[in-house]
Amino acid sequence: MLSKNLIDLENLSVKEILDIIDLANKIKANPSEYANACQGKILATLFYEPSTRTRMSFSTAMMRLGGNVIGFDNPMNSSVSKGETLKDTLTVIGGYADIIAIRHPLEGSAEAAAMYSPAPIINAGDGGHLHPTQTLADIVTLYNEKGRLDNLCIGLCGDLKYGRTVHSLIKTMSRFKGNRFVLISTPELTVPQYIKDVMNNAGCEYTELTSLKEAMSELDVLYMTRIQRERFENDEEYERQKGVFVLDKEKLDLGKSDLRILHPLPRVDEIDYEVDDDERAKYFQQTVYGMYARMALFMTMLNGEKKVLKKYKNDGPYKDVICTNEHCITHQETYLPKRFKEYGDMLVCEYCENSTHK
Ligand code: NCD
Repeated sequence: MLSKNLIDLENLSVKEILDIIDLANKIKANPSEYANACQGKILATLFYEPSTRTRMSFSTAMMRLGGNVIGFDNPMNSSVSKGETLKDTLTVIGGYADIIAIRHPLEGSAEAAAMYSPAPIINAGDGGHLHPTQTLADIVTLYNEKGRLDNLCIGLCGDLKYGRTVHSLIKTMSRFKGNRFVLISTPELTVPQYIKDVMNNAGCEYTELTSLKEAMSELDVLYMTRIQRERFENDEEYERQKGVFVLDKEKLDLGKSDLRILHPLPRVDEIDYEVDDDERAKYFQQTVYGMYARMALFMTMLNGEKKVLKKYKNDGPYKDVICTNEHCITHQETYLPKRFKEYGDMLVCEYCENSTHK
């Protein structure tokens, strides 16, 4: 594996992604053979944001490989509550653990963590930005339950604006040929511009719809998501958005017989419980595939060369530019050097991918 961190699946080549899927399936078929594959290794899970399955999936994955787990699931029980910066926490924990999975409410936090941690970083969700290991879970599921990762018509429904699983999945599936996206949301919750840029640059066709019913018959995959309440400015805004899209038996009847329904979970009200028993519903199997995907990821990342930390200085040409995304980590951790890439007349923040005018 060339990259020592997994911030975005773009850090891996398509071949490396397929190798991880292959390894996940080998482990699933024969778990006892891998029971000591990470013996003596320590995973730290640093969860600055609530999580049930993702944190437990990471922990179980490491334990099933014979490794150990340290960490916190509530930053208020750690030195963070005393005002410790991300830099200091990661410098220290990166010296204790062999690998770190971090989840944080701000966008670009995983990229920032990777700059200071001597141990490789896995992005377990950075605000409303990305969630690459959920995508690994999604594509291991698709590979097994759909039989392919290309030439699919993929519907994504719900909160496409703040849904980080949606962003990572679109980015990754755009790299496989012939995939087409149907984006189903209210006008307020459409995908961010950088995700549209990804689809356009990859030459992927996409349509934006406001009706799930209208989309149903053409889909090979339906990826349902919850409205991300915690990312809204206020509760009224959330109340206006919730409950708009619900997959029920009536809509499901319009779907193809080989449709596959995925959901990163947790579900709120967007999939009716009666859908659970339909054989096209794969969201609970998806969590099991996710654990094997994380096992394969640990083995791959821990088998590479040692990570070497690069020194970053805040002396580039954009040192005084401020990222216009108010949820960007650079606003909280103000010591972070400004890092931007030029894109036409825009500057793209290397932490959160938001574009700011030059
Ligand atoms: C997702 C997340 O945290 O972004 N959950 C998960 O990791 N399985 C989706 C969500 O919270 O809606």
